[in-house]
Order: sequence, then C-alpha cells, then structure tokens
Amino acid sequence: MSINLKVNGVSRAVPAEPDTPLLYVLRNDFELNGAKFGCGLAQCGACTVLADGHAIRSCITPISAAAGMEITTIEGLGSIDKPHPLQKAFIAEQAAQCGYCINGMIMSAKELLDRNPHPSEADVRSALTDNLCRCGTYNRIVRAVLRAAETNVNTNGRI
Ligand code: FES
Ligand code: FES
Repeated sequence: MSINLKVNGVSRAVPAEPDTPLLYVLRNDFELNGAKFGCGLAQCGACTVLADGHAIRSCITPISAAAGMEITTIEGLGSIDKPHPLQKAFIAEQAAQCGYCINGMIMSAKELLDRNPHPSEADVRSALTDNLCRCGTYNRIVRAVLRAAETNVNTNGRI
C-alpha cells in the first residue's frame, strides 16, 4: 500500500505499511539522514522532527499518523550554503561532540523558538530536558540555543 507524505514541502507517495515508523521512511525512502535512530523507544530524542510545527519522535510515529501533516526535518531548516541560525549557533558554540543528538536538540529548539523567541536559560533547559546527549555537551547546547535566540532573525515571524 502507499501513503502520501509531505516532507520539507515536497509531497510523495511512499510504498509502505501504515504502521511503518516515520523515521524509517525519512531515512530509507526520502534519503534524509539527519534524524537519527537512537533508542527507538521515544526515550532519547535523536529522531525528532517537526509535524505541523510540533516536535515529535519519528521512531514511534507510524506514517499513517503523519499523513496529512507538514513534516519538517533538519534538512528543511537550512543547508551547508545557507545554514539556519540555530545551525550557525551550534557551530559557533561547538555544541556537538559526536553529533548524534544534535538533530534532536536543534529540532526541539526550533519548536521552542517558534513559540517563544526570547527564552530564558531555564526555558531552554526545560524544552530540551527529554533530549539526551551521551557526550554531555548540554551547557554548550544551551548556549547555542540562547545565541540563536539573540540573533533575533525573523523569517515569516519564525527564527
Ligand atoms: S530514537 Fe526516537 S526517541 Fe530515541
Ligand atoms: S554530542 Fe554526542 S550525543 Fe550529544
């Protein structure tokens, strides 16, 4: 069977069973490898993407639930030539060590900054509390999100 998904503004019919995890389809069919498989149990956040602007765990989201939603992956935020302010800030703060958690950190931060463009440090820590970083670069990650917020870049009212 085939399910229609809209990812980063592009609609495409995917030949997959409805209970297939969205993460698998993003990585295998759309060839978008930014979202990572960490735990597969909604525990770590490495697989986070946005669905209609809300951060979701794509490892436990069946594609049937994602159909009809606007899915945004980290590839939809910026590019190497034109990085998103969050991506720039993560580089500037050297927030990644191994980098495995960074997709989830940035996508969760994107959701935060869209609803709260001027978060406090406590707001950032709270928004990222369920995203795990095994390298322990939490302080640099938080600094990066605050730096992105400070740039106050406004694109359609969203950073
Ligand atoms: S891989 Fe999805 S939350 Fe860990
Ligand atoms: S930078 Fe390695 S898991 Fe976060």
